[in-house]
Amino acid sequence: MNIIDGKGLANTIKAEIAEEVKAIVAAGGKVPHLAAVLVGDDAASLSYVRSKVRSCEKIGFKSTLIQEPTSITESKLLAIIDKLNKDDEIDGFIVQLPLPKHIDEEKVTLAIEPAKDVDGFHPVNFGRMAQGLPCYLPATPYGIMQMLERYNIDVEGKECVVLGRSNIVGTPMSILLSRKNSPGNATVSLCHSRTKNLAEHTKRADIIVAALGRANFVTADMVKEGVVIIDVGINRVDDPEAKRGYRLVGDVDYKDVAEKCSYITPVPGGVGPMTVTSLLMNTLKACRKEIYP
Ligand code: GUN
Repeated sequence: MNIIDGKGLANTIKAEIAEEVKAIVAAGGKVPHLAAVLVGDDAASLSYVRSKVRSCEKIGFKSTLIQEPTSITESKLLAIIDKLNKDDEIDGFIVQLPLPKHIDEEKVTLAIEPAKDVDGFHPVNFGRMAQGLPCYLPATPYGIMQMLERYNIDVEGKECVVLGRSNIVGTPMSILLSRKNSPGNATVSLCHSRTKNLAEHTKRADIIVAALGRANFVTADMVKEGVVIIDVGINRVDDPEAKRGYRLVGDVDYKDVAEKCSYITPVPGGVGPMTVTSLLMNTLKACRKEIYP
């Protein structure tokens, strides 16, 4: 059994990007600049956004954090997005989700210029991804594809089962794994809450991507020997012995399943750290105008 060290791989990739930034600076080029818009004071969102901004600083990117109160109107937020769209200094930006209920997330996502949509959430980027055209990939799927590639995990012709059909993880993952590309060329089943006989699918799988948001859902009896498991879940479970009163577990019952796996990602320290790296890679691409010349 091999553990896929997402944290270590994320650090390796960040070091590579930092070298590229040095080369850009040495050549007198423009330093990549990411902006993040955070609405409200949700603790988890604040922590995610801070981690993104901190990562930018560490690798030599510029970053701008725009914090607005929960009470901000939709039109004021749209005005901020319009300004970022037009600001040549900003290469890419994100609006952290979820947004307060009075703001229409779909409207906000559509307002972001696709060329600056480094989250890859705009339907133009999603559509380009589905057609195999140059695009910004959403952070989690991009991070997973990087893991598969850098660990030389054979995907072509394999049976892949994706659990969960969200717009930002499950659905794009199923497209990327089946795409005529490397990594890719897999036979993919996208399973969800209405799937019948789920274990019959997972038992057949060479590769499982679990992104359904249910703690310890995948157990040893559901997988075959030698399976590769990518666990996207980040679930809080009560733990009176932990300092915060809870600990984080994935969608896969790691202790139960790990022995049967050829590769497995831990939680924490697996997929999570790779998502920030994806955002940085997209921002570098935005700065170089690689996707939208
Ligand atoms: N909320 C949870 N994950 C994400 C993400 O990747 N991007 C944004 N903008 N918001 C999120």
